[in-house]
Amino acid sequence: MADTKEIVVEGVEALTLNGKTEEAKEAAAATTTGAATDDDVDVVDPWTVTSANDGGVDYEKLIKRFGSSKIDDELIARFEKITGKPVHHLIKRGLFFSHRDLHSILTLKEQGKSFYLYTGRGPSSGSLHVGHLVPFFITKWLQDTFDVPLVIQLTDDEKVLWKDLKIEDAIKMGRENAKDIVALGFDVNKTFIFNNLEFMGKCPAMYQNIIRIQRCVTFNQVKGIFGFGDSDIIGKIGFPAAQAAPALSSTFPFIFGNRKTACLIPCAIDQDPYFRMTRDVAPRLGFPKCALLHSTFFPALQGAKTKMSASDQNSAVFLTDTPKQIKNKINKYAFSGGRTTVEEHREFGGNTEVDVAYQLLRFFLEDDAKLEEVRIAYTKGEMLTGEIKKLAVETLTPIVEQHQAARKLVTDEVLDKYYEIRPLKFGS
Ligand code: TRP
Repeated sequence: MADTKEIVVEGVEALTLNGKTEEAKEAAAATTTGAATDDDVDVVDPWTVTSANDGGVDYEKLIKRFGSSKIDDELIARFEKITGKPVHHLIKRGLFFSHRDLHSILTLKEQGKSFYLYTGRGPSSGSLHVGHLVPFFITKWLQDTFDVPLVIQLTDDEKVLWKDLKIEDAIKMGRENAKDIVALGFDVNKTFIFNNLEFMGKCPAMYQNIIRIQRCVTFNQVKGIFGFGDSDIIGKIGFPAAQAAPALSSTFPFIFGNRKTACLIPCAIDQDPYFRMTRDVAPRLGFPKCALLHSTFFPALQGAKTKMSASDQNSAVFLTDTPKQIKNKINKYAFSGGRTTVEEHREFGGNTEVDVAYQLLRFFLEDDAKLEEVRIAYTKGEMLTGEIKKLAVETLTPIVEQHQAARKLVTDEVLDKYYEIRPLKFGS
């Protein structure tokens, strides 16, 4: 039975973007350079992520505002018990920190029932940056752990509607991005990749689900959820249904037949508005609500006030960067939590909460003991800024190099196999 909180939080009518009106949102955006006094200074929606704090968005407050649930020790313990292995370090370290209905997914696993994974990428640039890997790392780990099918949506349509991009170019970028995704080693027998601008013409079931979803949501509701206004183009207003449709298993009849299979979506938390809408609509169409696993944002090199962005060359380490570029970018731009002089640093120590090199290590240095050593040494001032940056460079460089080697092997023929409309092979 749904409790009151659930009704308030899940009801599309009750949902406003960030729980605020558009005016309030704009006002909040306008004050992001001002002092951080309350939670209004964090702006989190699918298009904007900013915080006035050097430490980044206040995620505890965000959980409350979005009405999601924290991934707590109890959930992690249950996760580990059911899967029989330790959770991924991104979950353990709280970088995936929030969820909706993850318990139901674990219960399915307990009962030996299946579910599927759904994630995606909006192709707005030819090259991905290291932050883009995060949801795909966890997705791959979940797929390996649970032996379940995975669908990956490339929202090339979204990027045409939101960016100054031609259809043809968005499709091309989507394919380039898909090569990076495939290079992470997804099992082709269990993984289906599709781009909206082409797949929909081949799969009437998807368009039919989009229309079913669009019939359930009014303009008022999308205005409330996404902040759309009267002068937004109509493509934007209809688009959320295209991101929602893959959360209904009947969008892929060639994979699921007419089974109503449960869906788990790993994503960064800025995508949550789409899935709040989806969760509201799904039961009305006879489907289970999708479950969600939310990540924090990957900080820009300049600091966690914004996230790494593919449209700002200096904010990000790209998967195409050379070792030299990686070193230069991190040394030059990575926001430091260190003190202004070595003497002061030795005396008072550095601040790992705002230090971007340290944050990079939290995402990419798998060795827990080593990470903890670094945290202590940097906080005490025993480790200097130059040293922590060096470690970040040494950690990231081989990951990028290995990625480049793996990506070279992803030819167009290899990629086409993932795009092929076909049944997938998985579990029971
Ligand atoms: N809108 C997302 C982006 O801009 C792409 C996306 C589509 C997605 N479907 C998704 C992300 C499902 C996470 C989960 O990147």
